[in-house]
Amino acid sequence: MKVFVTRKIPESGINLLKDHHTVTVSKKDRVLSKTEIIDQAQDAEGLLCLLTDTIDSEVISSLPNLKMIANYAVGFNNVDVKVATQKKIPVSNTPEVLTDTTAELAWALVFSVARRIVESDSFCRDGKFEGWGPMLMLGQDVTKKTLGIIGAGRIGTAMALKSKGFNMNILYVDPEHNSVLESELDAQKTDLSTLLSTSDIVSLHVPLTDDTYHLIGEKELESMKETAVLINTSRGPIIDENALIKALENNQIFGAGLDVYEQEPKIPKRLKQLNNAVILPHIGSATRETRSKMADMAAENMIQGLNGKQPSNCVNPEVFE
Ligand code: DGY
Repeated sequence: MKVFVTRKIPESGINLLKDHHTVTVSKKDRVLSKTEIIDQAQDAEGLLCLLTDTIDSEVISSLPNLKMIANYAVGFNNVDVKVATQKKIPVSNTPEVLTDTTAELAWALVFSVARRIVESDSFCRDGKFEGWGPMLMLGQDVTKKTLGIIGAGRIGTAMALKSKGFNMNILYVDPEHNSVLESELDAQKTDLSTLLSTSDIVSLHVPLTDDTYHLIGEKELESMKETAVLINTSRGPIIDENALIKALENNQIFGAGLDVYEQEPKIPKRLKQLNNAVILPHIGSATRETRSKMADMAAENMIQGLNGKQPSNCVNPEVFE
């Protein structure tokens, strides 16, 4: 069968696909428009796409042979899964392989913001360092502070577990009790407003859905501590970006570490001007090992799906009921 891959991904996944199917990889190393995807995947049975591709109702309905969508990401808010399910097309994602990698990046952001790492680096490079100073670049301690995890799924849990060396008090918000966090870290399940008003570090790990859109807005930011650090490695629209910029400009919270943006890849100029924001280009899963594992996983799911089997990481198993 024919598989269209919307952008170059690590070779191992492509080779795996090539063992079973005829594979075409987009020659353009950039995000394809919907029209380009429809055009280039026109006769494909399999579509291997990225979180930056919009695979909505129009795209799905315009690909007459489509039998399987493998998304190269754990988040799949870019795919209209409801429409795919109606058309009996399985959709897969790439969970687990990127859990630790993304949690590590969340921690990198915690320290970058709390200890003003990026600002300090620029300070040195700009020739401003004239000697040790008692009041120079004062940040926030992390050890023994309260870490608030919003969304205690795989990545939220990994982030919390990695706090072990820092003896932190862990709070979490999730619809379910998390027995691992409760038994290993004595974590407490709480509500959003308690978590926001009592945490020193707040880290977001929820998927983007209608319910989580702008979960953190003006009111929520106002309820946070003046010394708090906010981390987002999930999806940009979970935070009302304008409200966050205002809060950071007014030093309402200590700082924010962001890997994702509301209008990605657009980053507002006002956000770029802020010293108390550390901004990264959506690199949560960006390590060589993890991106290769994601490629292999997406390819394996594609092969299973095109064989008429339920892919191991199917997000709409109801297709097989
Ligand atoms: C994902 O897989 O959803 C991540 O955002 C990729 O970095």
